[in-house]
Amino acid sequence: MRVFPLSLAACVLMAATLAAVVAWPGQAGAQQAAPASSAPLTQQDIARMLPATDMGAGHGHGMATYTAATHPGDTSTATSFDAASIPTNPLMPKADPIGSKTCIACHTQENIQASHSLHVASFRAGSERSGPQAACETCHGPGSEHAKNPTAPGSIIAFTHDSKTPPAEQAKVCLGCHAGGARQHWTGSIHELRDLSCTDCHNPMARVSPEGVLAKPSINEVCAGCHQDIRAKFNRRSHMPLPEGQLACTDCHNPHGTITKPLLKTDTVNETCYTCHAEKRGPFLFEHAPVRQNCLNCHDPHGSNQQTLLVAPIPMLCQQCHTMTRHPNDLQTAAGMGTGASPDERVMGRACLSCHTNIHGSNNPSGSKFHK
Ligand code: HEC
Ligand code: HEC
Ligand code: HEC
Ligand code: HEC
Ligand code: HEC
Ligand code: HEC
Ligand code: HEC
Ligand code: HEC
Ligand code: HEC
Ligand code: HEC
Repeated sequence: MRVFPLSLAACVLMAATLAAVVAWPGQAGAQQAAPASSAPLTQQDIARMLPATDMGAGHGHGMATYTAATHPGDTSTATSFDAASIPTNPLMPKADPIGSKTCIACHTQENIQASHSLHVASFRAGSERSGPQAACETCHGPGSEHAKNPTAPGSIIAFTHDSKTPPAEQAKVCLGCHAGGARQHWTGSIHELRDLSCTDCHNPMARVSPEGVLAKPSINEVCAGCHQDIRAKFNRRSHMPLPEGQLACTDCHNPHGTITKPLLKTDTVNETCYTCHAEKRGPFLFEHAPVRQNCLNCHDPHGSNQQTLLVAPIPMLCQQCHTMTRHPNDLQTAAGMGTGASPDERVMGRACLSCHTNIHGSNNPSGSKFHK
């Protein structure tokens, strides 16, 4: 009876999952609630959990300097958020930092929403060293002019398309800490050229997604916000398993920019496909030229109403390139088609593929016609 303890375990697991679902506080609640498990986290706890990143790349107004000289006896290791600096607001070059307490006095609601976000929580934990400005002004820039006259356009760096801050200036703030890496090719990328801001896809003010500080709950929803035509292709009869959650747009694309069109993560289309379909890389004794050239000669990368993502039905797909010269010439005649006078079973269903089974290439010594 080995089945019993297993199914018991399964029941316990299911019960636990159910309980978790029932107890889920909803998004708004989750943003404000402390972690459910134990006592609320202290700032010291958060400081210890922060990822190690060198965020020293700031410019503009320097933060309060925190050194061994100013704070003798502090031997704790500095966190990555400590080096936060304040960007200059090009529309308010004379503004000075005023500290997050002042912002919060007017922006209670935003403060509640942002308090549990990665950035704000972390800047607060780091503010021991970087000063109280960090929590808000590290992104929004110095606020003295804005506090005096909040409705003056451009008085504060704001991250929406309605705001007076140009998208390039918005991105500059984020890139102050996030340049390089995946964003190496942001400058000149199609998204940058079309005036997207980082915050078209990211919302660091609220916890909307479990990871990636995204503006929607998942990567695919972020992209679908603008690329509805592409997203719709994934609803077709055959498609990459993206709606099933096995794949995201970012498995093939880097939205921050790449050296290849259209934002592919690899140098060529085929290299992208090989990252998962490695068996198609070959090498084959007998190569099928269009496969080597580009998988998209026959497949749509997103989805298609033909089987296996094909761009056209078989046999028409093959007949775009092949005429029936040296071939048994009674195949594919009008009479031989499924609706013809004398349908030919050799062209039914899998048609050409009934005989040419290894269409991507063959390693069989007698596979030159991809029969084997
Ligand atoms: C005296 C109250 C007050 C203070 C202090 C204040 N704000 Fe504001 N803030 C406002 C008001 C009112 C608006 C709405 C202005 C409008 O609708 O034109 C606003 C708007 C904003 C916006 C949106 C601007 C836009 O163009 O969309 C941001 C971002 C912002 N505040 C951030 C901050 C930050 C950061 C601080 C601290 C440095 C701060 N505020 C301090 C009152 C204040
Ligand atoms: C990591 C950078 C970052 C930090 C830190 C940050 N913000 Fe924001 N803030 C943003 C972005 C990005 C938006 C635009 C969000 C969106 O797309 O709606 C924003 C929006 C706002 C708005 C405008 C809201 C609206 O609906 O127009 C206010 C007000 C604001 N922030 C205040 C604050 C205050 C107060 C703090 C400190 C507690 C703070 N921010 C900290 C990045 C930041
Ligand atoms: C002062 C530095 C600083 C600024 C300014 C800043 N960030 Fe961050 N951000 C960090 C640090 C530190 C981390 C955590 C370490 C990491 O993941 O690299 C982080 C993490 C992130 C992450 C990854 C979160 C994850 O789950 O992996 C995203 C996305 C992000 N920031 C977006 C932004 C955007 C968008 C802006 C501009 C509105 C911005 N940041 C401004 C310091 C900054
Ligand atoms: C077109 C949408 C889009 C734009 C615009 C965008 N991002 Fe992202 N970003 C994403 C997505 C989606 C992810 C998650 C990638 C993943 O998990 O594979 C991400 C991940 C990140 C990360 C965390 C992972 C990493 O690469 O280190 C950071 C940091 C980040 N973005 C910063 C930025 C900054 C800064 C900008 C503006 C210069 C920006 N992003 C513009 C969609 C975008
Ligand atoms: C705010 C709208 C917006 C969002 C969100 C967005 N894009 Fe785009 N994207 C655009 C625009 C605009 C273009 C340029 C379209 C054109 O030139 O026809 C573009 C172009 C592209 C291209 C084609 C590049 C080329 O060279 O032809 C790809 C690929 C792409 N986006 C992928 C993504 C992915 C992946 C995401 C999600 C992480 C995403 N986009 C999110 C607006 C957006
Ligand atoms: C399996 C890899 C893969 C996935 C997943 C994928 N793409 Fe693509 N995408 C490609 C390839 C390859 C091309 C190049 C098509 C071409 O050259 O004709 C492309 C082209 C594009 C283009 C520009 C050309 C066009 O067809 O309009 C956009 C926009 C785009 N993808 C957006 C997305 C979005 C949004 C998602 C997620 C919903 C996504 N892609 C998911 C591989 C992928
Ligand atoms: C990130 C991994 C990944 C990448 C990259 C990728 N695929 Fe896929 N592909 C998958 C998965 C997962 C499946 C589903 C496999 C299954 O259901 O057995 C799949 C299925 C397919 C199918 C069969 C669909 C069907 O209906 O049976 C074709 C054809 C295909 N991929 C072609 C491509 C092409 C062409 C590319 C390059 C543009 C590509 N794939 C890139 C993961 C990937
Ligand atoms: C000459 C047209 C053609 C080209 C080019 C092509 N394929 Fe295919 N592919 C097909 C056909 C036809 C099928 C259906 C095979 C079947 O049903 O037996 C298929 C099926 C597939 C499948 C699903 C079944 C399997 O064999 O695993 C994957 C995955 C796939 N192709 C990936 C690729 C990749 C990756 C490339 C580029 C390296 C590529 N294909 C290039 C015609 C092509
Ligand atoms: C984009 C054009 C294209 C498509 C589509 C295409 N092929 Fe080909 N095929 C070629 C080229 C080019 C060759 C190489 C011809 C040569 O070497 O003389 C070839 C070679 C072949 C050969 C071997 C010919 C020989 O003489 O050795 C067979 C068999 C074949 N293809 C079958 C198919 C089948 C079946 C399909 C449909 C699933 C198909 N092809 C789709 C372009 C294509
Ligand atoms: C009944 C099995 C069968 C079917 C179905 C079939 N073929 Fe063939 N095909 C063969 C055989 C056998 C050869 C080898 C003939 C030779 O070596 O002289 C061949 C050779 C070829 C060749 C290379 C010879 C040439 O004509 O240059 C091409 C290309 C080809 N087939 C394409 C196709 C296409 C396209 C289809 C679907 C429209 C198809 N075949 C359907 C059996 C078949």
